[in-house]
Amino acid sequence: MVIEAILPGSVCSAESMGELPAVRGPSVFPEEDALLGRTTGRRRAEFAAARGCGRRALAGLGLPPGAILRQPGGSPRWPAGVVGSITHCDGYRAAAVGLGTRVLSVGIDAEPHRPLTAGLLDVITVEWERERLAELHQSAPSVCWERLLFSAKESIYKAWYPLTGRWLDFGDALLAFQPGTDAFTARLRVPAPEADGASLARMTGRWRVANGLVLTAVTVRTGTELDCCQTGGLFDLGWSGEGLAGQGGLAEDAPPDFLEVEPAGANVDEDVPDTGMGFQPGPGGEAVV
Ligand SMILES: CC(C)(COP(=O)(O)OP(=O)(O)OC[C@H]1O[C@@H](n2cnc3c(N)ncnc32)[C@H](O)[C@@H]1OP(=O)(O)O)[C@@H](O)C(=O)NCCC(=O)NCCS
Repeated sequence: MVIEAILPGSVCSAESMGELPAVRGPSVFPEEDALLGRTTGRRRAEFAAARGCGRRALAGLGLPPGAILRQPGGSPRWPAGVVGSITHCDGYRAAAVGLGTRVLSVGIDAEPHRPLTAGLLDVITVEWERERLAELHQSAPSVCWERLLFSAKESIYKAWYPLTGRWLDFGDALLAFQPGTDAFTARLRVPAPEADGASLARMTGRWRVANGLVLTAVTVRTGTELDCCQTGGLFDLGWSGEGLAGQGGLAEDAPPDFLEVEPAGANVDEDVPDTGMGFQPGPGGEAVV
């Protein structure tokens, strides 16, 4: 399994790759059928396959199959005490779930490993992020870093929303990949609430490129990280947030070293390596999975 490799051991996942499985007979629970309404064809098959992944992932937690409906806002509604995330794109479906006693939230996302639609990169990034992407492209040109960034931000949102019930613009998170690793970090530029004593001001995730896909996963663990807006992080570096320019209020001159500040007691994924794991640029700069 690919997605499993970028999730902590406390999270159970299931995935299905390639062509959508042929649907014979009822493939979804009646309550899910009601969600789908008149949806037919590929979209229905994709929904069913993703729900199937959800049920297999839940089985990994020892839970029986049941309907996976939607919360207001679109996030999946899991059984009580469970958190998780679903993704589907052409050729891939996956779900990841964990017990709320061990993880606060999970976000996963899959995208085709190809460039974004023209103009989209400028909408979802600021100049500082684009400069970092250009550096990454120099060192590993076979990785589509802009697509990876897009996916990482969607995973951030999928982990963020169930905890906050709040919309997050692409400009509300400043995202950076840690070169030479499979890790990324986002600093939130909006007031980040605490959930179970853990701040969402800094969120981390991991990524993979495999089988023509980009996969990202963000896990928010229980913990005691203090809100960096109050105690450190970006604002301790003298980046006061004044003079914010465009694109969701993000400063274009974000400090390049913001990733080096580590608030104490962070609730970030302990599996995110500091150096040298997961992504090793090969001779042609390809990602070795
Ligand atoms: C909601 C969103 C993230 C879904 O991503 P996507 O790439 O379009 O689609 P995916 O197949 O990967 O994910 C779809 C699944 O996301 C989940 N989802 C939808 N809304 C969600 C939400 N608010 N919170 C968490 N998960 C959500 C659902 O499980 C959905 O599956 P379903 O329709 O079968 O129930 C995306 O459409 C979106 O609105 N993005 C804008 C917000 C954002 O990403 N901001 C970036 C902040 S840094």
